[in-house]
Amino acid sequence: MNRRLLLLATMLMLTVSPAFAQKMIGNETDAEKQKRMEWWSDARFGMFIHWGLYSLAARHEWVKHNEHLTNEEYQKYFQQFDPDHFDPHKWARAAKAAGMKYAVLTTKHHEGFCLFDSKYTDYKATNTKANRDLVKEYVQAFREEGLKVGFYYSLLDWHHPDYTMDDVHPLVQVDTSEANYRRLNKGRDMAKYRQYLRNQVTELLTNYGKIDVLWLDWSWDKGAKRGKGEDDWGSVELLKLVRKLQPGIIVNNRLGLDEYKDGGDFQTPEQVSSAELAKYRGKTFETCQTFSGSWGYYRDENTWKTHRQLLDLLITSVSNGGNLILNVGPTARGEFDYRATNALDSLSYWMHANSKAIYDCTYAPSNFQVPEGSKLTYNPTTRRLYIHLYDYPKGKLILRGYGGKVKYAQFVNDSSELLFKPSDANTGDLLLTLPEKKPPYEIPVVELTLD
Ligand code: GLC
Repeated sequence: MNRRLLLLATMLMLTVSPAFAQKMIGNETDAEKQKRMEWWSDARFGMFIHWGLYSLAARHEWVKHNEHLTNEEYQKYFQQFDPDHFDPHKWARAAKAAGMKYAVLTTKHHEGFCLFDSKYTDYKATNTKANRDLVKEYVQAFREEGLKVGFYYSLLDWHHPDYTMDDVHPLVQVDTSEANYRRLNKGRDMAKYRQYLRNQVTELLTNYGKIDVLWLDWSWDKGAKRGKGEDDWGSVELLKLVRKLQPGIIVNNRLGLDEYKDGGDFQTPEQVSSAELAKYRGKTFETCQTFSGSWGYYRDENTWKTHRQLLDLLITSVSNGGNLILNVGPTARGEFDYRATNALDSLSYWMHANSKAIYDCTYAPSNFQVPEGSKLTYNPTTRRLYIHLYDYPKGKLILRGYGGKVKYAQFVNDSSELLFKPSDANTGDLLLTLPEKKPPYEIPVVELTLD
């Protein structure tokens, strides 16, 4: 190829190749982003908290949509709301004990009710029997317990008079005709709602000190006939505002800005199976998961994940280089119910003993084979490899190809030495000796110090 042709080809590549052409809203470098997100990547484990008026209905946070309720019909929950057991210090202590390093609370969910004292609405906790700013107390308590603090804020709003109809709005679930949309949209003005959004986000990011995470939810304009996204929320401007108000903040990816490289800091695979998490390896992600099927408190929902399933989600997230944010839906009285408490207690027990294999960890270098019945995590700073023993191999574990790579081996839970030796002459395998009796953890962890 002559030089002119080469130049032309390069210019063409620069314009077409997505790696080069991806648009930017700001001008942060990859290294700067990595630095900004360091605490979050090291933390690996957070607590999501979905709490609002739907906690009273106790049958899913989408109850207003599911049952096509009007504002008037939903008003009984506002009048009834009286969280007499609300003690965010208890929440924070439970999160901390379970090994969670940050939390994200729904300051407003799709129902539109605000747990914070907003100047721009009367539909807020201060006007209920709670009679105070609950977000303020949450922020204070979690900070005092040493956790990072995050806000979830719903872009959708099923209460606001200017918020237009779309295919998930409670009021158009029965009659989906054009005529009904037109009738209900009369007098509604999304431009005014967009301003409301900006005003409230400004309040949240100025009145509560440093906020570590902002979780904006969600956009579904692509492919849906009546979805909402970037243009409806004014996403680019909103994100610029967020970054201006809180330069260090970490923002999720649900503003509908996928065409921008910096349109969100992390991906948010929701309720995916642990097998699916492999797809996200190498990306910055946080999988959000419930204990049962619902985010808001759901009294009669009984498909709660087992301790093993929860551990699997945590370990698998880290073994693919991502975070897990696990949701609790407190009751309308403001407490975690016994099922959530039991689940958190079991996690506390495991994390107390094994958290070294979670914090600061990521996926293992590719030259380490995953031993049968296990998953690997790896701390690149200390160069320790963690083998999570899903199927406890009584007596022996063969580590294929590990020969010459390992200096020391022990259980993480009690730092008790595990002896190992080359398996035989030239295979390059190691034979690790394990006790017959499985240590008292659902998934015990072996730590290898690498050479
Ligand atoms: C979804 C749901 C919502 C939940 C969220 C958490 O977008 O609409 O109820 O809060 O996911 O990821």
